[in-house]
Amino acid sequence: MDKLIIRGGAPLRGQVEAGGAKNAALPAMVASLLTGESIRLHRVPQLGDVRTIVGLLNHLGVSVEGRGRETISLRADHIGQFEAPYQLVKTMRASVLVLGPLLARFGRARVSLPGGCAIGTRPINLHLAALEKMGATVSLDAGYVEAKAPRLKGARITFDGQTVTGTENLMMAATLADGVTVLENAACEPEVADLAALLNRMGARIEGAGTPTISIEGVNHLHGAEHEVIPDRVETGTFMVAAAITGGDVTINRCLPCHLEAITEKLRETGVLVEETDSSIRVWGDERVQGVNIRTQPYPGFATDMQAQIMALMSIAQGSSVITETVFENRFMHVNELLRMGADIKVIGTTAFVHGVPMLSGAPVMATDLRASASLVLAGLAAQGITTVSRVYHLDRGYESIEQKLLGLGASIERVTE
Ligand code: EPZ
Repeated sequence: MDKLIIRGGAPLRGQVEAGGAKNAALPAMVASLLTGESIRLHRVPQLGDVRTIVGLLNHLGVSVEGRGRETISLRADHIGQFEAPYQLVKTMRASVLVLGPLLARFGRARVSLPGGCAIGTRPINLHLAALEKMGATVSLDAGYVEAKAPRLKGARITFDGQTVTGTENLMMAATLADGVTVLENAACEPEVADLAALLNRMGARIEGAGTPTISIEGVNHLHGAEHEVIPDRVETGTFMVAAAITGGDVTINRCLPCHLEAITEKLRETGVLVEETDSSIRVWGDERVQGVNIRTQPYPGFATDMQAQIMALMSIAQGSSVITETVFENRFMHVNELLRMGADIKVIGTTAFVHGVPMLSGAPVMATDLRASASLVLAGLAAQGITTVSRVYHLDRGYESIEQKLLGLGASIERVTE
């Protein structure tokens, strides 16, 4: 397994480019199941999760050309399998996204329940209840979801809770259903709107994506399309915090500042300076940041995927901050590792009480999940001395060549393979 060795203290300076969004690329790749024609995607990031979804799509019979490059083509004209096996789904919950498209185009799907992960149990009950409302028969068998539907029927569905992949699953299922489907209390994340843009290019009739009410008029057939994936707002936010936590001056190019308003607002509240253009964000400031309170929310609120990263920054802030995680039940796995670096954090339930310390100390730490590992890298960049982050395969799931990008900004960081 690889480790990252970081010598903290260098203010990061310079320019870095945002990659394509992991959480937009994954559903876009799965959307290829909805047609036998070719789907061409640009700006696909080279990530562990992208490789995992390619493996699953190959298993189902989708041909994928151009792997390992930013532009890939997918074609689902020889689907011979309708089962997403446990050994694939357990490594990545987003695999459940194949449920809706397989059901919509082939009338059947057998998908392993994802099981929990480090940040929570992460059930898919909302996905399944909604598919049943569209006429699917859903049963559980030996840890698998068996779903069948001769043809899904349009329905009015109000989600009991906001779910990003649940919204994406149902939006894809509804594109080929008989009649109109209306999704109420739908997730408003930009990645949902990006998927709808691709589906509409494929001939779907979707309106309202990105708002809590999405309507989808079913069609009989979807055709091939070409699409560029939106930039990754969480990678962008992570580099914004990297600039703030090291007291540097970093500009992130080819990003979409409009997707990061809650993050930008919070960073400004801490005293960090942020300047935006339509496609770039500059973050700088050499004063010690002030502690602020954060409450994660579904989009457009403060993203749960940025909670671990902002906590690293709050660990060295002036004063205290209260960080409340409202989306996942166990997304504080980074706290114990930050404590080992000298942070002063107390967790009660889903709230973390952070009291800023003047300086963290480098230490050997272990990554437990994707965003927790980003938090430890950020803490290492600011800490005095050497931080070794192990199990960086967690990080590689969602960040492409992060050490190269950080080296380009003047960080002292290297990857070693154990
Ligand atoms: C998506 O996960 C993202 N992943 C996550 O990013 C992100 O943290 C999350 O949305 C919230 O923004 C992808 O888009 C691939 P949810 P998803 O369904 O769709 C509960 C990252 O770091 N829930 O919106 O799986 C669930 O347990 C990853 O890039 C149910 O109870 O999240 C959670 O508490 C991590 N039943 C909450 O809703 C369901 O059927 C939000 O989950 C579905 C969800």
